[in-house]
Amino acid sequence: MELIDGNKIAATIVAELKEEIAALTVRKPCIALIRVGEDPASVSYVKKKEKTAADIGVTSRILLPPITITQGELFALIDGLNADPAVDGILVQSPLPKHIDEVAVFRRVAPEKDVDGFNTINLGKVAQEDDTGFVACTPAGIMELLARSGVDLKGRHVVVLGRSLIVGKPVALLALQKKAGANATVSICHSATANLPELTRQADVLIAAIGRAEFVTADMVKPGAVVIDVGINRVPDATKKTGYRLTGDVHFPSVAPQCSHITPVPGGVGPMTVAMLMKNTLKAYRLGGGR
Ligand code: GUN
Repeated sequence: MELIDGNKIAATIVAELKEEIAALTVRKPCIALIRVGEDPASVSYVKKKEKTAADIGVTSRILLPPITITQGELFALIDGLNADPAVDGILVQSPLPKHIDEVAVFRRVAPEKDVDGFNTINLGKVAQEDDTGFVACTPAGIMELLARSGVDLKGRHVVVLGRSLIVGKPVALLALQKKAGANATVSICHSATANLPELTRQADVLIAAIGRAEFVTADMVKPGAVVIDVGINRVPDATKKTGYRLTGDVHFPSVAPQCSHITPVPGGVGPMTVAMLMKNTLKAYRLGGGR
């Protein structure tokens, strides 16, 4: 069994980006990070994005509107950033409070600044295999992890567990693309799928993105499969200082011994998401001609 070290692969990518950014002389890339309210996971993710940006020379602008912000006010905030030539990328951290239509917010971000890849145009470009758009960071990170771990998806059965806009749907489209490293046969499973373990057992590559702690158990995985665990779940744990421990969607202790490759949580897909966000921000900067 080979452990896919997301920390190490992400660090390599981030170091490459840092070098590229150091060579920019006129202006550095700038990302605006919007976090609404104080959701503890979002606080931690946005901090991580801010820190990585600072480490590699990307300027970040952090906007922290209160949870009471109206959809109209949030739209106005995004419109301002869309029109600001000093801003290359815009990210609105998900989840948003219930009174705000999240998809409408994702649509509001200008496609050329949509470094999260959640805008209709960019999701459409993934379906059309048009590389001029932005691919959502977690799916892009998963493809990069597989490529850099020597896993070629061609002709293999990829089973995606979860149909979210952020991971499940885009990663399925990426694995399906007629491109080197992809070309997979893809199944997508979700909460209404019948005989789910029967399907997951057919996976050569299983991508678990359902947000349920340790849902995937050994009996659901074919021996020799590649397992990518996208879940980051907080499970109460009195022995931890924080009062919780982080665990994935996969029951790692029982599944890992029978895999050919597996990603740990934490230290698997998570760090890749941030690395790909930085990569997208540099791409936005270059597409904007350094604006
Ligand atoms: N919430 C969970 N993952 C993500 C992500 O990749 N981007 C944003 N904006 N929010 C998220």
